[in-house]
Order: sequence, then C-alpha cells, then structure tokens
Amino acid sequence: LFGALDRQAPDALLGLIAQYRADPRADKIDLGVGVYRDEAGATPVMRAVKAAETVLLAEQGSKSYLGPEGDTGFVDLLAAIVFGPLAGSDRIAGVQTPGGTGALRLGADLIARARPSATVWIGDPTWPNHAPIFREAGLTLASHRFLDGAGAVDFDTMLADLAAAQAGDVLLLHGCCHNPTGVDFSADQWAAIANLCAARGLIPFIDLAYQGLGDGLEADAAATHQMLAAVPDALVAYSCDKNFGLYRERVGALWVQGANAALTTLAFSNIVALARGIWSMPPDHGAAIVRTILERPAMRAEWMGELDQMRTRINALRAALAAAHPQLAAIAGQRGMFAMLPVSTADAAVMRADHGIYMAGNGRINIAGLRLDTIPAFVAGLSPHLPS
Ligand code: LMR
Repeated sequence: LFGALDRQAPDALLGLIAQYRADPRADKIDLGVGVYRDEAGATPVMRAVKAAETVLLAEQGSKSYLGPEGDTGFVDLLAAIVFGPLAGSDRIAGVQTPGGTGALRLGADLIARARPSATVWIGDPTWPNHAPIFREAGLTLASHRFLDGAGAVDFDTMLADLAAAQAGDVLLLHGCCHNPTGVDFSADQWAAIANLCAARGLIPFIDLAYQGLGDGLEADAAATHQMLAAVPDALVAYSCDKNFGLYRERVGALWVQGANAALTTLAFSNIVALARGIWSMPPDHGAAIVRTILERPAMRAEWMGELDQMRTRINALRAALAAAHPQLAAIAGQRGMFAMLPVSTADAAVMRADHGIYMAGNGRINIAGLRLDTIPAFVAGLSPHLPS
C-alpha cells in the first residue's frame, strides 16, 4: 500500500523548533515559530489561563461528550469579541474547531462541498500552511500579489491580479497582523476590498489568528466587521493559540455568515456534519479554559491586561528594531508578531550557522523572540545580509 506514496519533506518552520533546541550556544536567538515570548524568552501559561484551569479542576463535573459543535458557550462568548455589534445575528453561526488550522480546513471542506469549482485566491506571501490546507480539500488555488518590491502594500497590483477572479471565488484575507509580513491593509484599502467582494461576488474567508496583538481587540476586528457588513456570504477562521497562549491545546472556531438565516442554518448543518466526519468532536480543555475566562469578569479583565502587555511589548520591540537600522524602519508601522526581512533562505542559513539566529527561510522573524538587549546582536548579524 504505502510504496506508492511520495516522501514528504518535514515542515521547515516547525523543524526550526528542534534545531534551536539542539543548539548549545547560550546567546542563540529564536525568531522562528510564531509563539509569544516574554522579556525572559519564555512562553508562559497566562495567569488567566492558570486561574481558569484551577476552576475547571475544582468544578468540572464531567468529561462526557459535547458534540461536533464543541463548547457552544465558548463559541458564543468568543463571537461577542470577534463580531462585536454583529454577534447574535441569525446570519452568523459557528463551531469550535481544533485550532485555527482546523477552522481553515473545515471551511475549505465546506467550500469544496458547496462550490467545488471555486478558486481560492491567496496573497503572496502568506502563511506556508494556507495553500496545503485548501489544496488538500480539493480546491483550486490562485495567487495574487499585494506587495511592492520594498515590502509595502501595492494595491493596484493586487486589484489587477484579482481582475481574473470569478463570481463565487473565495478570497483568503488575514483579518489583522499579517503572517508573515506584518503588513496590514489600511481602513481605506479594506473598504475597497469589501466593495470589490460585494461588486464581484467574491466570498471573503478571513483568517483571524492574532486578535489583540496588533492594535487591540476591537481595532483588530474592525476589518472583519467591515467585510461581513458588505457581503452576503463569508467565513471566519479563528485561533486562540496566540491571544490566549493556548498553542498546543488547539483552540479555534469557524463561523459562517449566510445571505439569510435559512442559508446560515443550512451551512451550519453542513459544518457540523463535516466536523463529525473529520474529528467527530474538538478537544475540550482549551475551549473550556477560554469560556471560563470570558464568563468571569475578573478573569476576563486579567486576560485582557495580559494581552495588552503582550501587544505593548511587541510594539515596543518593533519601534526599537526600526530605530536600529534604516532598512528596518517600516517595521515600526507594521503589526503583529511577524516581519519579513529581505533575506534569502541561504542568508538565513548563514545567520543560523554563524550567529545562532533562527528565522524562517522566507526571511520571516518572530518579533516577540527578540529582547531589547538582543536587538544589537541581531542587527549586527543581519546587517551584512541586507541589500545595500
Ligand atoms: C507560525 O506561523 O509560526 C505559527 O502559526 C505556527 C504554525 O503552525 O505555523
């Protein structure tokens, strides 16, 4: 049976985790996989999460099944944070998923079932797992540009590429904190994208994996609200990995917006059925933690305070990095965990070998992996590789 398979290369980004761990150098710098790090370089369990786990340990009375939709209290409480004034609309319905990846894959499977001929348009560059997720669901992919040579948004080129999109095609969008570039659209550009989707019948699929880590919980959801208000149909994949620090617990959600309540109910019945056929039910613990936090005002306030601290630290690092080298100046205005540097895969390998600086092969760095006191060493190792 298995002899017919092609050997697959290990995931390059996740491979950095093991490489970094095996590096004995004390001054190594991990800017690889996207996890938040504090000033001590740790990715601690958030205090609000620990408090919620204590409550669950004391009060959770059963581990019995919940169902394919997962923890509906979690989904509803999170929806209020994600959709603000739109939450509670009978045109929006969602389920808990195993992480943002599970949400993206479930949404991809729904699209493949509803409209197998749809092409999914994905900006270049994007998170390396986006294309495989949609391709494995059997969908056709197309790529559009959105950056100029200097790494700033080139909106005209994006619109020119999207001129080839057909009504009913899907447009994948990063709701905030673009991964890997940190380059987000302006409010005017979001308005233009919303108009484009409405006028051309394109279906936005918003990947919202970093809410609260850009400009704040509300500000980071503004583009999502704008898009959903403009179009009849949309999908939103959500991850609690970063903003609740729940990475390995795999906590996410998928929401669909339909043109009316009946079509939303139809879509919801299909995502529940699809989820049953893939993972049957999502893992409970992480979603129960999020629900427990959001149900309790004191825990919710603690979580929001911790999230504020994370965002403030990342944006302070952005400012310091931008000030450290003229070619890094744009990083101050970008948002989220990542920035993409004009560094080749070969240069990234040299920086890894010579200086113990670990970054993705596409030049992406996890800003949170820096500290104010490691920025000089990082910039010194990076400078020879920057184009003059
Ligand atoms: C990342 O982009 O580094 C994270 O989202 C982790 C992952 O799964 O790739």
